[in-house]
Amino acid sequence: MRSFDTIGWTMTQHQRLNQWIEELKTLCEPDAVVICDGSKSEYDQMMGKLVDAGVAKPLNASLRPNSFLVRSDPADVARVESRTFICSQDEADAGPTNHWADPNEMRATLNGLFKGCMRGRTMYVIPFSMGPVGSPIAHIGVEVSDSPYVVVSMHIMTRVGQAVLDELGADGDFVPCVHSVGYPLEPGQADVPWPCAPNDLHISHFPETREIWSFGSGYGGNALLGKKCFALRIASAMARQEGWMAEHMLILKLTSPEGAKRYIAAAFPSACGKTNLAMLVPTIPGWSVETVGDDICWMKFGDDGQLYAINPEAGFFGVAPGTGMDTNPNAIMTLTENCIFTNVAETDEGDVWWEGMTDEPPAHLIDWRGNDWTPDSGTDAAHPNARFTVSAAQCPAIADEWEDLAGVPISAILFGGRRASVVPLVNEAHSWNQGTFFGSIVASEKTAAAAGAIGELRRDPMAMLPFCGYNMADYWQHWIDIGAKEGAQLPKIFYVNWFRKDEEGGFVWPGFGENSRVLEWIFKRCEGTADAIDTPIGRLPTLDGLNFDGLSLSDTDIATLLKVDIDGWQSELPLIEDYYKSFGDRVPAALYEELKQLEARLVEASVGVA
Ligand code: OXD
Ligand code: MN
Repeated sequence: MRSFDTIGWTMTQHQRLNQWIEELKTLCEPDAVVICDGSKSEYDQMMGKLVDAGVAKPLNASLRPNSFLVRSDPADVARVESRTFICSQDEADAGPTNHWADPNEMRATLNGLFKGCMRGRTMYVIPFSMGPVGSPIAHIGVEVSDSPYVVVSMHIMTRVGQAVLDELGADGDFVPCVHSVGYPLEPGQADVPWPCAPNDLHISHFPETREIWSFGSGYGGNALLGKKCFALRIASAMARQEGWMAEHMLILKLTSPEGAKRYIAAAFPSACGKTNLAMLVPTIPGWSVETVGDDICWMKFGDDGQLYAINPEAGFFGVAPGTGMDTNPNAIMTLTENCIFTNVAETDEGDVWWEGMTDEPPAHLIDWRGNDWTPDSGTDAAHPNARFTVSAAQCPAIADEWEDLAGVPISAILFGGRRASVVPLVNEAHSWNQGTFFGSIVASEKTAAAAGAIGELRRDPMAMLPFCGYNMADYWQHWIDIGAKEGAQLPKIFYVNWFRKDEEGGFVWPGFGENSRVLEWIFKRCEGTADAIDTPIGRLPTLDGLNFDGLSLSDTDIATLLKVDIDGWQSELPLIEDYYKSFGDRVPAALYEELKQLEARLVEASVGVA
């Protein structure tokens, strides 16, 4: 760790970086500036500060070595989409799904908020790489933050330190990320355990100048700016300009009993079990799943025309509740040591607990707010968005090649949401454009669908709704353009749905490890060894193409899972059209063409049936 406090002292080889740090020092008025080196001693020192501040507590070292429980302010517990801004020059470039703010006005607001905001605190300068240092798919950022919790979290979630500065050299590009908890201390003023400024919250992105400014929160995606802010919002805008893809996707490696390997990327809205799928333990003999990434995927074309992917992150920032040995054993086994747990409950033995970790809750806990808790309390012991932060390298299922500089070649892309009705278990797109169409209409049904009716839909195209840094319709066009690249050897695209319900409202498909059966079919489609039926909505498995052996599914269940629901899709067409219309004239013609062709095929099928 290096620090300086005289203006003019040159800290790095990079003039622009030095100058930017000087500017921020003048604006934010910290007591000290520290350039982070990513070392273990730096981590320990920052953790020591958090423990002294009373916000972090070491867990029982014999149960959970080198691990800490952190309790945030109850007003600062999640990403805040309503305070997340895309500040493009032209409002239309942010599009109807983003909160737009005028960049000049936002700069004026931020200048006011950041003026003197680090008084009484240290300004940490965190050079980080999103992706393995030196990978041609990786990019560098520098986060300036006044939060030691951000420093330790960035250590785990990204690659921090001198190697990054070396890679940056004298004039390399970096994305500037400015963060403050927004709680300056006047001389003599005592600090609070979790400083934040929820009433002044601003998470602002400037896609044209590739900058991030975040004020007022210390939590997760609001504050660890490498993740959603850089790796998705800013990176999606970079990717569009530069011809690559920044996606909200897990990456998994699937190996067949014969030892053949395929890499699959998959996009699901938050809370659809992405981390579980990334770490899945197959129930079908001989198959294995290994993890490359659980949340974000950057893909660039290789010389052979294939899309090569890296996981830009180095750790998992996963939702703890719902994670147990039965739902995600690999996650549980990742969490044995060196973890930060935020807003989970604490056991009497000095360990952690959350809803879903065990069937039976302990008789007594301290809940995420620090209060006594028993099963009769009637409240959640862990906050529903409680998180674990842990290095991906600790995951027993991590793939050997997860840090390969060249990335891994993607054979298939999966899209899925929570659909109680209409959407079958798995459906292969006829073409890249049809796959893009499937991605654009990803939705979850908010209300339980009554038999034969579609529940209220929350669209989440490509699971990017809160994460696309520009106009969503332009993003769809970018997908179409990627597909039209000369010489591209594109992945196949599949639309999956683990959440189909029966007439009684129960889930039909068992999910979790059984999803390996669907992965097997997808794998075999990529190899060209599984049959499919061409239907009006895409290609579906033949009845014996999917391995249902050993599952207690009735014929009716299987029929529901593989149903080509002509009526259901016909009822959905006007909803899709209305949705597209909400983007005005920027929706790609190719997507309207997909909609038109789908309609024509459905009409033909319904006439044929009648
Ligand atoms: C996440 C999310 O935290 O998608 O990964 O919300
Ligand atoms: Mn996510």
